[in-house]
Amino acid sequence: MSIAIEQLTVAFNHKAVIEDLSLVIPQGCFFTLLGPSGCGKTTLLRTIAGFTPAEKGRLLFGNKDVIALPAHQRDIGMVFQDYALFPDRSVFDNVAYGLIARGWSRERLRPAVLAMLDHVELTGLHDRLPAALSGGQRQRVALARALVIKPQLLLMDEPLSNLDTKLRIQMRSSIGKLQKEVGITTIFVTHDQEEELALSDLIGVMNNGKIEQIGSPQDIYQTPRTAFVANFVGGANLMPLPELSSPIGQGYAQVQSPLGPLKAFSHHQLEAHHACLMIRPEDINLSLDTGLQANHLPCRIMGKHYLGSKTHYDIVLPDRTELVVHLSGQGHERYAIGQSLFACFEAENALLVHA
Ligand SMILES: Nc1ncnc2c1ncn2[C@@H]1O[C@H](COP(=O)(O)OP(=O)(O)O)[C@@H](O)[C@H]1O
Ligand SMILES: [Mg+2]
Repeated sequence: MSIAIEQLTVAFNHKAVIEDLSLVIPQGCFFTLLGPSGCGKTTLLRTIAGFTPAEKGRLLFGNKDVIALPAHQRDIGMVFQDYALFPDRSVFDNVAYGLIARGWSRERLRPAVLAMLDHVELTGLHDRLPAALSGGQRQRVALARALVIKPQLLLMDEPLSNLDTKLRIQMRSSIGKLQKEVGITTIFVTHDQEEELALSDLIGVMNNGKIEQIGSPQDIYQTPRTAFVANFVGGANLMPLPELSSPIGQGYAQVQSPLGPLKAFSHHQLEAHHACLMIRPEDINLSLDTGLQANHLPCRIMGKHYLGSKTHYDIVLPDRTELVVHLSGQGHERYAIGQSLFACFEAENALLVHA
């Protein structure tokens, strides 16, 4: 089922938390909603699920506007951050819950529940109480409970945030695999930028009740539209620029930086207001001479950390702008703290983004 959100506004005590938000999620898509704590992710999910009312706007499931329907008529499976399992009921009864609510007999639901437990790799654990399970297993019970009703839409609110790093990586890939097998349209909420790149077909980066950019993981990482998006997904060096005198179109552009003219690239149309130059740490090179590249800035090395496959350098420019540089490959640890040299980068890696 495809989802379309049109001009949705959600408010608490007359204060809008989601404002005029529009979004289309194609059938079968794994959509990640990524944004900092407090930006409105849970509110948006709860509004889609029917637990929080909307002030205005439309919510289309396929062609049908469901905004006025109560939660139980929306055909949604939901996984909460704290799993919300019934502590005094067995794994089996936790998973069976939604089917019982739909009037299924115990004979009829038994094979469906056991098959779903197999599917999430909990075979044989149906008699356990949640307290006798590991965090990852509880998480899978919650997932089985959400999926057993065969919903048209799966909503997951930070489902991995209570797991340790190793388990999180494992669960992330099993959620991704399961989602593709079942083919269910999924909205996955997270504030962890590492989580989503691996899983998502589409990412929506949310800031302050609005979606700042939607795109594939590659789009979001390689062609961020704003400084916020660039900063939130991956490491970003941001250099503020003086106010642009005229709008910048797509393509190469010569810009005035505090350190002189630089050649940059813009993937997006930029209005004539504050823009930033954004360069990823891996796109800056360090060199003892100015080389032939258009962009080379004198700099000094302030810090250095050897990270195995790469070396992380903290450098400072004459105007005190601090940048992070990642050099990978052999011989990359050759520069010393305090050394003066040049930071170089290609114009196509110096991206103009909205400040
Ligand atoms: N029931 C509520 N009543 C009043 N304010 C709320 C309520 N739920 C959330 N908010 C406010 O809405 C904003 C967004 O919250 P939330 O959707 O939980 O963000 P996120 O999930 O991105 O961390 C926050 O400022 C929060 O305090
Ligand atoms: Mg939340």
